[in-house]
Amino acid sequence: MTVAVRSFAKINLGLYIGAARADGFHDLRTVYQTIALHDVIRVSVGRGSGIEILCENKDPRVPLDSSNTCYRMAERVLDQLGVKGRVIIEIEKRLPVQGGLGAASSNAVATMVALERALKRKLPAAARLRIAAEVGSDLPLFLVGGTALGVGRGEEVYPLADLPAVAMVVVVPEVGVSTAQAFVDWDALVQREKAAELRDEQLTLPLASDRLIEVGRVLSAWLSGLPNTGAPARRGSRAGNLLLDLVRTGIENDFEKVVFPLYPELRDIKGALERGGSRYASLSGSGSTLYGLFQSRAEAAKAVSRLRKQGLKTVATSTLTRRKYWEQSLVVGR
Ligand code: C5P
Repeated sequence: MTVAVRSFAKINLGLYIGAARADGFHDLRTVYQTIALHDVIRVSVGRGSGIEILCENKDPRVPLDSSNTCYRMAERVLDQLGVKGRVIIEIEKRLPVQGGLGAASSNAVATMVALERALKRKLPAAARLRIAAEVGSDLPLFLVGGTALGVGRGEEVYPLADLPAVAMVVVVPEVGVSTAQAFVDWDALVQREKAAELRDEQLTLPLASDRLIEVGRVLSAWLSGLPNTGAPARRGSRAGNLLLDLVRTGIENDFEKVVFPLYPELRDIKGALERGGSRYASLSGSGSTLYGLFQSRAEAAKAVSRLRKQGLKTVATSTLTRRKYWEQSLVVGR
């Protein structure tokens, strides 16, 4: 039996990088939001052993060996459940590779969900979270879906109120950005700042500890403004615009400070989204994807045609609520 699962993408609504930790990771604060764009993951289990990854519209940056996040996930799920079998994982790639949309992380969680279904076995919730965090910092969020607060190295996730869907536009530039490299560049920027501080020069970045305290304050202000009734908000109500209210409070993605100087064209795309009427535009994760949030689907559609005329690879989509994320994750048929 083949089980097919939609593997949805995410964006980051603000991302703040703290100090480098002893384990080599960075503490961070972010709000993750799942979106409707997705890959499809198909998993089948047969007799024998071994894990095989298939990816038809193959991008050379998608590894087909044991370094693939889906492979690493399947290995751990089989091990944890104590089952043997030959697992074939087919990745139908639609999402950009190295795009900052969490595709590789989402693909791995989709593999877990599909493999559990195919084996008709379920891992305990704690094991699911542990395995997800082992494979990568961005995975646990895909076990939650919707809007989620991410702390620690991003792997510690807390679900936030399920806000109504917001229209958005995603621009996929030609370049890919390595997240690991972006963190290295961030550290270099912090070092330059420290050296400038010693020379008594004006700093452009506040110190890491001050920054996370400030972000904690802003996030808790957001959270206390969230509806906590659990009831779905009506269209056009205040809650309906809450996501836009949140981003209007001036959230930022720190990665822009190291990625934009390297790829100035990405800064230009953010500007084009803003001029195209987006209420908020940002790099997602370490990029290279940029997104804009819009007041309506009509406004988003207008922006898409404008941006496409400039030769940019652009799609209209929307944020995906937690309820929809889980309703739509399973694909019926192949
Ligand atoms: O966890 P993940 O595999 O996605 O991380 C990729 C790389 O990005 C890590 O090896 C690490 O170098 C860097 N990273 C980091 N701090 C984080 C998340 C990732 O330094 N919070």
